[in-house]
Amino acid sequence: MKRLSTLLLCFLLLPLLRADEGMWLPNLLKQLNEKDMQAMGMQMTAEDIYDINRASLKDAIVSFGGFCTASLISPEGLLLTNHHCGYSSIQSHSTMEHNYLEDGFWAGSFEQELPNPGLTATFLVRMEEVTQKVIAGLQAGMTAQERQSLIDKNIAAILKETPHEAYEEVEIKPYFKGLQYYLLVTVTYRDIRLVGTPPESIGKFGADTDNWVWPRHTGDFSLFRIYAGPDNLPADYSPNNQPYRPKKYLQISLDGIREGDFTLVFGYPARTNEYLPASGIKHILEVVDPVRVGMRDLSLAVMGAAMRRNPVVKLKYASKFAGIANGWKKWIGEMQGLKRVNAIGRKTQFELLFLEQLSANPDLQKAFGDILPRFKELYAELAPYEQSHQYYTEFTGRNVDLLRTAGLMRRLLKIYESSGQKGFDNFKQRLQPYLEKQYKNYLPQIDQKVFAALMQAYLEQVPDAHLPEGIKEKWTSEQMAGLSAELYQNSVLSSAESIDQLWRLSPKKLAKTLEADPAYQLFTRLAKAYEEKVQGDYQRIKSELEELQRRYLRGLITVFPKKHFYPDANGTLRVTYGQVKGYQPRDAVVFLPQTYLAGVMEKYKPGDYEFDVPEKLRQLYERKQYGPYGENKRLPVCFIGTNHTTGGNSGSPVLDARGHLIGLNFDRVWEGTMSDVFYDRSICRNIMVDIRYVLFIIEKYAEAENLVQEIRGGMADRD
Ligand code: ARG
Ligand code: GLU
Repeated sequence: MKRLSTLLLCFLLLPLLRADEGMWLPNLLKQLNEKDMQAMGMQMTAEDIYDINRASLKDAIVSFGGFCTASLISPEGLLLTNHHCGYSSIQSHSTMEHNYLEDGFWAGSFEQELPNPGLTATFLVRMEEVTQKVIAGLQAGMTAQERQSLIDKNIAAILKETPHEAYEEVEIKPYFKGLQYYLLVTVTYRDIRLVGTPPESIGKFGADTDNWVWPRHTGDFSLFRIYAGPDNLPADYSPNNQPYRPKKYLQISLDGIREGDFTLVFGYPARTNEYLPASGIKHILEVVDPVRVGMRDLSLAVMGAAMRRNPVVKLKYASKFAGIANGWKKWIGEMQGLKRVNAIGRKTQFELLFLEQLSANPDLQKAFGDILPRFKELYAELAPYEQSHQYYTEFTGRNVDLLRTAGLMRRLLKIYESSGQKGFDNFKQRLQPYLEKQYKNYLPQIDQKVFAALMQAYLEQVPDAHLPEGIKEKWTSEQMAGLSAELYQNSVLSSAESIDQLWRLSPKKLAKTLEADPAYQLFTRLAKAYEEKVQGDYQRIKSELEELQRRYLRGLITVFPKKHFYPDANGTLRVTYGQVKGYQPRDAVVFLPQTYLAGVMEKYKPGDYEFDVPEKLRQLYERKQYGPYGENKRLPVCFIGTNHTTGGNSGSPVLDARGHLIGLNFDRVWEGTMSDVFYDRSICRNIMVDIRYVLFIIEKYAEAENLVQEIRGGMADRD
């Protein structure tokens, strides 16, 4: 028994020790990863990647708007990110006459670059661990609340005493579920302009059909520029601002890639959950994902049909549809992947090992022995609340604009109740422009249909005990259709104009108007039922789970002291590294790691909304005019690797062994989207655009000579 388990231990831990899995802290590479990275072929040192004393690669990476990553590729602040990261900016500059989504956009000079209010680029200046100071004074018997309030107090004190420049920001974030804390010093630029984008038929080629799918042929890139004040520091938008002069920008390599090559992705992954117990994975697979997918099935069917019928709808709903479809498809892939690699079974096996280690040591047993059974109990208890919570969130918070607006208005009124006129004004100041932007892309006739479909599902699927009293009895399906029509006809929230009127009202009058509004009334009923019957228990169980998860992580680290653990993604800068590699998606099928322009042509469907190919690109293909970007008369388009990435890593630069830019991360393969909770090297792959395709499009397709000159200056010597 003993021998067997030791063997099993080695076997099970082996994949965990493989380099590809993990989102590593840039400041700890020296200590944890450098050797491994160099063994995999990296020719740099950890300091080349992250150094606080001299310019390093990290100075060429920014968090793009807080939701994506971008990198600097010229001495004049030119930023490379994904087309889908720039999407809403591009959309906001587009009209039916100047449709930059459809036709692309290339600024011929600095003056033609387009400002994007609200868009930011944030640099990490440095990070340091401050765990001891943050947890100072914590005691064993404290409640979660006491614990948190002490931590908040400590954090406030540390922030106050941390020296920093006036233009810098300081924050402290938890890592490892709060087992560690890091202080992050950042600088945020606020004048970010659109420089160039290919048409959607290149930048979003394959659209939702190909999203999350390999083989892929999307030129998913766009160009922006950071502008700074005269001192090269952050400044609000001004026509007098100057292109930012970076400390560091990336060198580009056109050498191309081969299977097995080292790849490094440097960016801002948002959120992962890699240390869930088997019961947590089961919860995602059986409770969370099915509800989300089911609700989105319904709303996507409505929106998609309308978009295909009408080009105005298509333009207005493009971004909303893409966002909703993106999560929907990812979760479908996640469920399939988790089943396929038997994630629950493998986690369970791993837990047996953990338990075995505990049973061999009474102290460990005492400290951690209750954790796994407790997880099981809590997830079982959570399930019904989670289900209603997910239904509620999808229905009122995500898919139906009218209800989401009602929710925001209710928040505004609550803020007035709790913090008076000042709080009201503050929130209103943010809410008003936000809603104005939202309603530019809002069509009541479509929202109404989405509402009707989701309301029906909501009433059918959510247990009576979690619904407002009597709500089910009230509506037959005919009455439901009547209700939706009436809501959208009579609600002040169903048009931009009538919302505009609302902003003139005093808080008291606003409350009165809203309380008489049918959509607001309905939302309030739903919200109150949710708050009274679901939210309390949901949050109580979730917070106990969080506590337990932290103890579990401490347990894992204690029981397996030799393993290198990486913290879950938390929206901070990370390094992931791996290699270019194909995979086997199904029995007897092998995917190669690189695609070519010929593959774009294979998918070409004239006039199709997803797979049309611009005429000029077809001509370039016919003539094989690839310049320095081709490889044996073929033009590389995308490639895949084993880098462990997630949402937020979009736009992350992909660097080769020497730190030169070879690609742009933008997606993962469908079979492997479960890497957010369970990374498996056999099928988890990230998808990247080849930098040669990016430059080819800029030079040969767009003929943006000014940009070619600017970027070419940054080209690495070709040795
Ligand atoms: N799947 C990628 C990501 O998660 C790309 C999404 C944008 N593209 C789209 N067709 N929706 O962000
Ligand atoms: N497209 C994703 C993003 O916007 C990256 C894909 C993923 O989730 O890995 O960040």
